[in-house]
Amino acid sequence: MTAAGSPAPPATTDIPVLSVEGLTVRAKRRVLLDDLNLDFPPTSLTAVVGPSGCGKTTLVRSLNRMVELTPGLRVEGVVRYLGQDIYAPAVNPVVVRRRIGMVFQRPTVFPMSVYENAAFGLRIAHEDEETIDRAVNDALRQAGLWDEVRDELDRPALSLSGGQQQRLCIARALAVEPRVLLLDEPTSALDPAATQRVEATMRRLKERYVLVLVTHNVDQAARVSDRIAVLRAGKLVEVGLTADVLERPREKFSEQFIIGRAE
Ligand SMILES: Nc1ncnc2c1ncn2[C@@H]1O[C@H](COP(=O)(O)OP(=O)(O)OP(=O)(O)O)[C@@H](O)[C@H]1O
Ligand SMILES: [Mg+2]
Repeated sequence: MTAAGSPAPPATTDIPVLSVEGLTVRAKRRVLLDDLNLDFPPTSLTAVVGPSGCGKTTLVRSLNRMVELTPGLRVEGVVRYLGQDIYAPAVNPVVVRRRIGMVFQRPTVFPMSVYENAAFGLRIAHEDEETIDRAVNDALRQAGLWDEVRDELDRPALSLSGGQQQRLCIARALAVEPRVLLLDEPTSALDPAATQRVEATMRRLKERYVLVLVTHNVDQAARVSDRIAVLRAGKLVEVGLTADVLERPREKFSEQFIIGRAE
């Protein structure tokens, strides 16, 4: 884990930034994720698809220890970030969540200005004003929002459109210098134009970060992802390059899901 505030090192190898070995998540009476094995290579976007209730949200919440915030769930197996098990006792989950950021289905902006929303994680980390200024500016540019808000950074974030709010949430996650961004159906509450802008942002970001995108929408996966992982009832059905999974799925279930028949 790099020290707080230090820049993320550039990705130079194909060693996975994030990998999952035997990941199993149990609730009291049932298994939500069953022995998943999966790698997330550098600068890639992996779309996680599958029917409602198959465990997509549980998977992404397991990748940055957010799953621990839900009482009653038990995590087994290993999730490695840059080779280190993020569930090891010495690891601070707050640091994990800075490096492996999360964007939710509905924009989660706070009732404060655009600037303070983007600066939120940096304020908590007690960064100085100059560092915050630079990071906020950079994060808003990377999120594709800068041109729309540069002259009104003091404006209440809640007065932005839904799509702008979602890009602000992306900026807030980027400002604390993550390597990985988890996005759980980030466009499902947005109209087509706002969806297009968030997709354009994701396409740019995957050149620099590891993106994991949960989506219900196979067309969206086709437009933005490099790889697709198909889940069914807590199990990984298959994972592969997007074109391969879409055009030559190895499993019957994937084929049915892709053509919209699997439930
Ligand atoms: N805390 C919990 N206790 C028990 N069961 C849970 C808990 N959280 C989720 N589940 C169950 O685990 C399964 C997977 O849920 P999850 O939210 O990960 O699915 P999903 O693929 O994200 O679904 P959707 O597409 O509807 O968002 C569901 O059947 C859900 O009801
Ligand atoms: Mg979900």
